[in-house]
Formats: sequence, structure tokens, C-alpha cells
Amino acid sequence: MQVYLNGQYMEETQATVSIDDRGFLFADGVYEVVHLYRGKPFEWERHLARLHRSLAGIGVGGVSDQELTEARDRLVGDVKTEEAALYIQITRGTQRRSHAPPPAGTIAPTVLMWVRPVDPIRADLVQNGVAVVTTADDRWAKVWIKTIGLLPNVLAKGKAIEAGAYEALFVRDGIVTEATSANVFRVSGGEIQTAPVTNYILPGITREVVIELARGAGMTVVEQPFPIEALYGADELFLTGTLTEVLPITRVDGRQIGAGAAGPVAQKLLQLLRQRAGMA
Ligand SMILES: Cc1ncc(COP(=O)(O)O)c(C=O)c1O
Repeated sequence: MQVYLNGQYMEETQATVSIDDRGFLFADGVYEVVHLYRGKPFEWERHLARLHRSLAGIGVGGVSDQELTEARDRLVGDVKTEEAALYIQITRGTQRRSHAPPPAGTIAPTVLMWVRPVDPIRADLVQNGVAVVTTADDRWAKVWIKTIGLLPNVLAKGKAIEAGAYEALFVRDGIVTEATSANVFRVSGGEIQTAPVTNYILPGITREVVIELARGAGMTVVEQPFPIEALYGADELFLTGTLTEVLPITRVDGRQIGAGAAGPVAQKLLQLLRQRAGMA
């Protein structure tokens, strides 16, 4: 696999970063994942805009769209599979270990990009839905920054897998925020609901696109907080994410949701999303 690292293209095995890279030492960096459908990046502009917001959120500059777009095109050229993921990670750079971030512009950020094939989400999961567990949202208060500091997400995902579930839903003060790597939607009485964009969720690109597609198809979407209890009584629940797409949830904490299989709203929205991606 070819990797782009700081202006150079190389084999994965040749790509190394310093032990003093602030991403390695402090998780001092941000990232993006872009879905490639037949080599075409889905919603590139929105990913780029969110990446810049994240970079601004941690005070890192010096990364040009030209660099990212050129590297994207070169890496995408090697893709042989129908679907793939483009990963972009930017850290503050390399400096002898010190908590104090260097003054802006004094060190070069580390820019890493690669493309890997991804398997489409398994058809049985899309049809039958997945099980999730709920867990305390003990992340920091700047979840909108797509930081590589993902330890709470990693631990929560581990807890889900240990419980035989697919994902964990974060709950903060009784309110459902999102999942470890996806946003969460509920359907009740024909209305679609998802948490509003605040500091406490990552504003998912797929979330945004799905809301637009739903509204475009005449469905009602409200962006309002909902409590954990509202999960259990929902007609449908689903996750949205770049690689997750639209994935029905049919069990929460061991309780069946709706009819226990993919519901019509999730199915419709997945179809619209795949259409938009040129895959349906
Ligand atoms: C915590 C979290 N929420 C939501 C999402 C979904 O965002 P997107 O649709 O942009 O992939 C992700 C994606 O990785 C995530 O990590």
C-alpha cells in the first residue's frame, strides 16, 4: 500500500514518524476518513471543511488544500476495489517532548494519508440491524474537533464488543449524544430525530447528508436532544457514518427495538445515500 507522508510517497513499511511526533506523544492531531466509491471521494468538500475546522480548533495551520488534493488524487489512482477509505491524519508536528505547544508556524505539521480497501457493510447487518449498548459519555467538551485522541471511544467500543454488541451509544446527563464512530437517529411516529450539533457531538458528514436526503424525500427531521428512555420505545433506530452509511439498530441493552429488523425509514435512507454515492 502506498502512503503519503510529509510530501513523499512510499510503501507502508517505509513510512515512519519520529518518537517525538506530538501525535504519538499527546494525541495532538486531527483526522478525517473519506469514503471512496469507485474511486470517487464522497463529499470531499465537506470533509475538507471539517478538517480545517478541526485544525483551527487545535491551532494548527500550514496545511494547504492543494497538498491534500494532490495527494488524494495520487493515492486514489491506485485503488482497485469498488469501495475504499481515504485516511488523512495531521498532527502538530515533531518537537522534543513538552506539553507546551510550539508557537504557531514554528514546526511543520506531520501530514499522513493512505487509502485502503473497505468491504461494504455486511448485508445481514443491514437487514437484521445491530445490537448496541449504552455507556456514559465521559469524553471532553470539544467533541466537535475530530481529534485522534480517541481513547474514550476505543474503550466504549471495547465494552460493546465484550457485551456481544456492535457499537456503544454515549449518554451524557441522560441524553443520547452519538456512538463511538457514528451519529444516532431515532424514528417515532413518522418523525426522524437526531441530536443537534453542539460541542458534544461530532458533526457527521453522513448525518448532514442523511438529513438533507430525508427532507428532500418529504420526511420530517428534528434536531433535538432525546433521553436514553426514548431509545427503547423508538419505532426505528439507526447509525450514520462515513463507512457505516445507514445501519439499523435493532437491540439496545438487550431490548428489542421496533420489529427487530431493519425498518422502512433506515432502508429508504440507505438507498438514497447509495444512490447519491452513485452505487444504487
Ligand atoms: C464520534 C463520531 N461521531 C460521528 C461520526 C460520523 O461522522 P461521519 O459521518 O462524518 O463519518 C464519526 C465518524 O468517524 C465519529 O467518530
